Amino acid sequence: MPDYAFFHKQFMPLSEAKIGILTHALHYGTACFEGIRGNWDSEQERFCLFRIQDHYKRMLDNCRILRMDIPYSTDELCQLTKELVGKSGYQKDVYIRPLAYKSSETVGIRLHNMEDDFFIVVTTFPSYLDTENGVRCCTSSWRRVDDTMIPPRGKICGIYVNSSLAKTEAWENGFDEAILLTQDGHVSEGSGENIFLVLGGELVTPPSSDNILMGITRDTVMKLAKNELGIDTIERRVDRSELYIAEECFFTGTAANIAPILEIDHRPIGTGEIGKITAKLQKFFAAVILGRNPKYADWYYLVSPKAAMA
Ligand SMILES: Cc1ncc(COP(=O)(O)O)c(C=O)c1O
Repeated sequence: MPDYAFFHKQFMPLSEAKIGILTHALHYGTACFEGIRGNWDSEQERFCLFRIQDHYKRMLDNCRILRMDIPYSTDELCQLTKELVGKSGYQKDVYIRPLAYKSSETVGIRLHNMEDDFFIVVTTFPSYLDTENGVRCCTSSWRRVDDTMIPPRGKICGIYVNSSLAKTEAWENGFDEAILLTQDGHVSEGSGENIFLVLGGELVTPPSSDNILMGITRDTVMKLAKNELGIDTIERRVDRSELYIAEECFFTGTAANIAPILEIDHRPIGTGEIGKITAKLQKFFAAVILGRNPKYADWYYLVSPKAAMA
């Protein structure tokens, strides 16, 4: 199945979508992106583009940080994505990657006086972490970038050098994932996921002021915890040593879904197995992202491939 792109205002096979080697974003990381899952429901023969409006709203907000202007509204971006998913011909889970970037082919460090461009790619992407068996983590020797350096809320391409350094260090040291701390040593997040802890029966997650990306899955999990399990989430600063004494711990993200953390810095978390609250949240999450629960209709953008092509 060839991957498809919306590029230069046209739909085309991914193999035809090319950029020049002087493109500003390639040299300076001046771009921001989203990752959106299109979950295929084989019974209903349709995709659920999960919380796509929220993803595009975040991207348009982030374009403002980078002084970029994308000539589409959230609704138009959703419509373009729907057409692209239809054209792709996939009938299985897809991953949608929109990216807005400084497209001028010029040398020079700045955000101003430059052209912007935008594309969307539809491809596939298996879960980024092992959600069934859980993951082993380390705290990274790399610190999470600060809002005064490159705004982490911005999902800005250049930031992912920070994430990549941490991820590869963790992997080379035999771990599945890194947990990054802030400059002053508080828990921030994983290389591409937010983090939650169960501490004394309470659900705790670091606040936006600790340089996290304000994850859409994070928000989904907080709402599911409240609505389905009656558990409020406390957003507060988290010390590194609290990771070691947590009863449960897990990552959340569009790429990673809900990934249980079983060990951090060689210390088992809780019993060293997937915790009860984590497992319950995974179950609710898996059902909700298929788009079948009317209670969460606002989160769904349902696309039947035939209708999208019509
Ligand atoms: C650094 C980082 N943190 C957290 C997340 C989780 O965000 P979301 O749940 O919106 O995918 C992501 C993934 O997008 C990410 O790249």
